[in-house]
Amino acid sequence: MAPYHIRKYQDQDREAVIDMFIKGTLYLVSFGFFHQLKQPRSFLLLLGGPGALFLGSGSLLLSLLALPGLLAFLWLVARYPIKNYLDHALRTDMSDIRKFYLNDRGSCFWVAEKEGQVVGMVCACPQKMAPGGQKRLELLHLSVRQEHRGQGMAKSLTQTVLQFAQDQGYDAVVLSTLSFNNAAQRVYEQLGFWKAREAFDSLKWRVTGMTFFYYEYSVPSSH
Ligand SMILES: CC(C)(COP(=O)(O)OP(=O)(O)OC[C@H]1O[C@@H](n2cnc3c(N)ncnc32)[C@H](O)[C@@H]1OP(=O)(O)O)[C@@H](O)C(=O)NCCC(=O)NCCS
Repeated sequence: MAPYHIRKYQDQDREAVIDMFIKGTLYLVSFGFFHQLKQPRSFLLLLGGPGALFLGSGSLLLSLLALPGLLAFLWLVARYPIKNYLDHALRTDMSDIRKFYLNDRGSCFWVAEKEGQVVGMVCACPQKMAPGGQKRLELLHLSVRQEHRGQGMAKSLTQTVLQFAQDQGYDAVVLSTLSFNNAAQRVYEQLGFWKAREAFDSLKWRVTGMTFFYYEYSVPSSH
């Protein structure tokens, strides 16, 4: 028997869910930072900045001291769009989970509970402006507490969304994930999602060089 069970969100879960959402989202900043470091322009900045300082001032100490400052700058660059996304979600859908996800039959919010603690979450709602008149469900905010990862919980939560999509007569389930989020991609690909496209979500992501992978899953017809 699974050591956790998945159920619908209840109002008393709010505090645990918000805490998990904040930590799960900010966890991605370190991956974003290493992604930044691999960009050619960061390489140029980290070599060129101290190099130019050395040539200008003749001080090796000064140019070495510039390095931590530049690394901190790249950390902030990686953090900015992720924190912005988080703040936006906390002000919109996550500000009233019941209103946004549980008042409509076509949306839902689930949590994974283990030993009385909420340790995983996922939600889904109809995709706005779905192409070709398709009925598409968007999967959002998948997260598992760090100490409970690697036990198949994200896969079970995602399967719950896929079952919901089939029960509600959706044609497809869609989602987006950052290009460097390998753990999430593995979950989705193992469950039959395929990468439909790759793009920057908006200007702030483009400036930081962070691409999104857009995944789709075709819901098998239940007829
Ligand atoms: C992504 C996340 C939800 C996965 O949760 P989880 O419960 O550990 O996932 P599961 O145990 O169901 O499956 C994880 C799979 O990814 C693999 N995996 C874990 N880390 C990985 C990595 N860095 N690279 C590649 N695969 C990885 C695991 O081995 C496992 O595959 P397996 O079943 O073949 O062994 C979790 O890491 C998380 O909460 N991350 C922070 C929030 C987040 O990124 N959410 C997704 C937003 S799109």
